[in-house]
Amino acid sequence: MSKGTDAALQKCINPDCGAEFDCGRSLFKCPECGELLDVLYDWDKVEVPSKMSDFAARWATRGDRLDFSGVWRFRELLDFCDDKYKVTIGEGQTILQRNDDLAKQLDMKPGRLYLQYEGLNPSGSFKDNGIAAAFSHAKMVGTESIACASTGNTSASMALYAHSCGLKCTVLIGSGRIAFGKLSQAMDFGAHTIQIRGDFDDCMRQVQDVCSELGIYLVNSMNPFRLEGQKTIMLRIIEQLGWEVPDWIIVPGGNLGNSSAFGKMFFELKQLGLIERIPRMAIINATGANTLTDLFNNKKLRWNGGRVDQAIIDEFYADLTARNFSPHTCASAIEISRPVNLKKCLRTLDVCNGVVLAVTDEEILDAKAQVGMYGLGCEPASAATIAGLKHLRADGIIGADERVACVLTGHALKDPNVTVNYHKEKQGRFSNPPVEAANDLEEIIRLIKS
Ligand code: F0G
Repeated sequence: MSKGTDAALQKCINPDCGAEFDCGRSLFKCPECGELLDVLYDWDKVEVPSKMSDFAARWATRGDRLDFSGVWRFRELLDFCDDKYKVTIGEGQTILQRNDDLAKQLDMKPGRLYLQYEGLNPSGSFKDNGIAAAFSHAKMVGTESIACASTGNTSASMALYAHSCGLKCTVLIGSGRIAFGKLSQAMDFGAHTIQIRGDFDDCMRQVQDVCSELGIYLVNSMNPFRLEGQKTIMLRIIEQLGWEVPDWIIVPGGNLGNSSAFGKMFFELKQLGLIERIPRMAIINATGANTLTDLFNNKKLRWNGGRVDQAIIDEFYADLTARNFSPHTCASAIEISRPVNLKKCLRTLDVCNGVVLAVTDEEILDAKAQVGMYGLGCEPASAATIAGLKHLRADGIIGADERVACVLTGHALKDPNVTVNYHKEKQGRFSNPPVEAANDLEEIIRLIKS
């Protein structure tokens, strides 16, 4: 079994434990204390470029599969495995769109609002960044079988990569809780798909036991190697801003893997002297799945140097259990009430001087229609970023002149039902339903002119 590079190790995030493990082990929580694990690097053993723009040289050699990958072209910043294990199917060819039309709608100055379209990944969501990294680790440790719990996108991405790596894959999804585009992908890509009568949080609990019991490799974002891949989304934003950092990153919050990964990336870049300042971060929940918002804003839960007040979390979850609470939002991707990366996300909020808020389904649907009307479209969870930005602008937390990058996590075609219903059922301010017409030239012309 390979130990990976000697630059990386896994370390428990709990400062009172701090147990360390080599990267040749497949773990999704600390075997000593049960907390989350980080992948940490001895930067003295890695040849990190002296400035961010040095990565641009990789464009000239993009005939090389690793230089082409939007994850691996930054490989020095996630140096946990040998090149021979690195998996890529061309992830991360995503664009940062300057969107002045939408900026105007939000009363922002031109050149200030940017949309990072992670829906342009091979499986249609940001997950491919993390799955490429997790699969590389899975190959390194010699895995044959992998599994995940999913609200849809992880399963689609995992199934696609499993396809190309010849791995057996099992998906646990909540019954009736997954958008059709995503379910169709999991089935089409040959995943063994098990629909549990329960929600995502139930699936997440079950999959951990399944993986422990059967020795299956878990690819949910508890897997620290997955988050290493997702760090690169921030690098591509910086790259597309001419190697400058924005003032704000806005990201939807579900299982809180992205926000955790992004904060880690900025912390490391600052530590390495590759950036001078860390941008602020806004994490947006849906009101029907607002655990982070409640814990951070109302219960004042904080990272506290890694000594998070577990009693507050336990009390919160005990209350959810007592009320038999199950989260509900049209943004099914973030319909999660027990986010597994909660503590790492609190660390990000600390590192990035972050804010958290929740937006309603109505706000999400209107924002999604606006991204469709003025941009390249996205799925509901992704539009939570724009809905959140409207609040942050209205409250004066984000100024008209600040440079903001919203991470649009999934493609518009992931959830066609929500889009069709919004327009056909005239559910919001931007509904644009088709007009019925007779099979008659005059009537068609009259309608076009009207
Ligand atoms: N946006 C989309 C499109 C997602 O699919 C997810 C998560 C999120 C946002 C939330 O990201 O967990 O990093 O906070 N989807 C997972 C899945 C849970 O199973 O596909 P997070």
